[in-house]
Amino acid sequence: MTPEEFREAGHQLIDWIADSRAQVEDRPVLAQVQPGEVRAAFAPTAPTDVVAFRELLRELDAAVVPGITEVQHPMHFGWFPSNASLSSVLGDIASSGLGSLGISWESSPALTEVEEVVCDWMRQLVGLSDQWHGTINDTASTACLVAMLVARERATDLAQNGGGLQGVDAPLIVYSTSQAHSSVAKAALLAGFGWDNIRMVDVDPDTYAMLPAALASAIEADIAAGNIPSAVVAAVGTTGTTAIDPVAEIVEIAARHNVFVHVDAAMAGSAMLLPECRYLWEGVEGADSISWNPHKWMGTILDCSLFYMRDTALLQRIMSTNPSYLASGADGQVTQYRDWGVPLGRRFRSLKLLFHLRLDGIEAIQARLRRDLDNARWLEQQIDAAPNWELCAPVPLQTLCIRHRPAGLAGDPLDDHTLRWVRRINDSGAAYLTASKLEEQWMVRVSIGVELTERRHVARLWALLQEIVKS
Ligand SMILES: Cc1ncc(COP(=O)(O)O)c(C=O)c1O
Repeated sequence: MTPEEFREAGHQLIDWIADSRAQVEDRPVLAQVQPGEVRAAFAPTAPTDVVAFRELLRELDAAVVPGITEVQHPMHFGWFPSNASLSSVLGDIASSGLGSLGISWESSPALTEVEEVVCDWMRQLVGLSDQWHGTINDTASTACLVAMLVARERATDLAQNGGGLQGVDAPLIVYSTSQAHSSVAKAALLAGFGWDNIRMVDVDPDTYAMLPAALASAIEADIAAGNIPSAVVAAVGTTGTTAIDPVAEIVEIAARHNVFVHVDAAMAGSAMLLPECRYLWEGVEGADSISWNPHKWMGTILDCSLFYMRDTALLQRIMSTNPSYLASGADGQVTQYRDWGVPLGRRFRSLKLLFHLRLDGIEAIQARLRRDLDNARWLEQQIDAAPNWELCAPVPLQTLCIRHRPAGLAGDPLDDHTLRWVRRINDSGAAYLTASKLEEQWMVRVSIGVELTERRHVARLWALLQEIVKS
């Protein structure tokens, strides 16, 4: 494709994206396709012919669009807000268009330095001190893996330089809770800790937040058993209920035993853009690493997960590789992001954050987050006041965990009722919610925060919920 052909097709593509976004509310939220239906729309063998760009767009409309679950739809209340602000989409396109290769500072000085600048702006915007230095990963799962690798190496005085884990004679232990995201256990497993060495610390039965006293006892019991407490992962906003682990107390306990603390604020990190919410991660300055996803509620298109560490020298000792073909005269004076994580080659991800901040602006983003918090408060009040509806957990931010419990219904029949009504809403395409288990009983999460979701959409959802349980 020549630049001129690209120009023409690109204009068509931008129109196609703009139309698709403008009409998102006309489509069902949940993709109305059966398993295999999208695949079946494509030839089973690789095509050898080529098509005009308009024809390709027609193919997309026919075969792909019906298979998209519309998470940008204002009636999407499932999982978490996965906003893809159009300003950040432009940044993503610019990043692709530049075609930069980030394997060293020299391979794209701008890619490295804009990432430094934007990570530092974001640090300031969430109120972290200048002790923290950031990078952008694809996801919070990757960030947690990096944190677990660093914790492992710190606890073993860099065992990787000798026999690795196989040379360590006492088990290394990681602490988290049953409420933490599945990526936490996955990261610990991938880092070699093993299931036997992951402790699920007790949580408060009302707030689902980690109990500091239980953490302290678990660490002390491990020390007494000759084990090596290595890392705690504290969640600021768990996936299920947005529970907030008490970071200040956790870092204080961890510091006593030289245990690494990673704060997973994947979802709730966006709230830290609001000064009034920062009490939720009080004590975070004492942690060792933090991750949070602008690609969730804040709305910078996937993939954009910020990872901050204080001791980046340690990070680089663990992650650094120095093949001769990447050496340059700038070494020693510049940041080499390949030494801050797993991948060598990186995309120019910071451009989507730069575009988002420069085109939408932080004040508009903050106003939207506050709107969502207000909408969550409003729905909380409706549910609180309605007979037979219950809130299953506190609502510190924008996610409500709810159940409809007709008099006398409990146990399995209650689960059947819950799963039936949520499935009916989701299948209808009118709205989308996530069913999830809390203490072995199904409940439904209402996660508010799609860019287009206004109060009228939340009110429509509430009307829909009341209607669906009647029939
Ligand atoms: C608290 C928490 N941590 C981690 C993750 C994983 O995020 P990612 O998809 O960026 O790996 C999620 C995703 O929902 C989450 O809510």
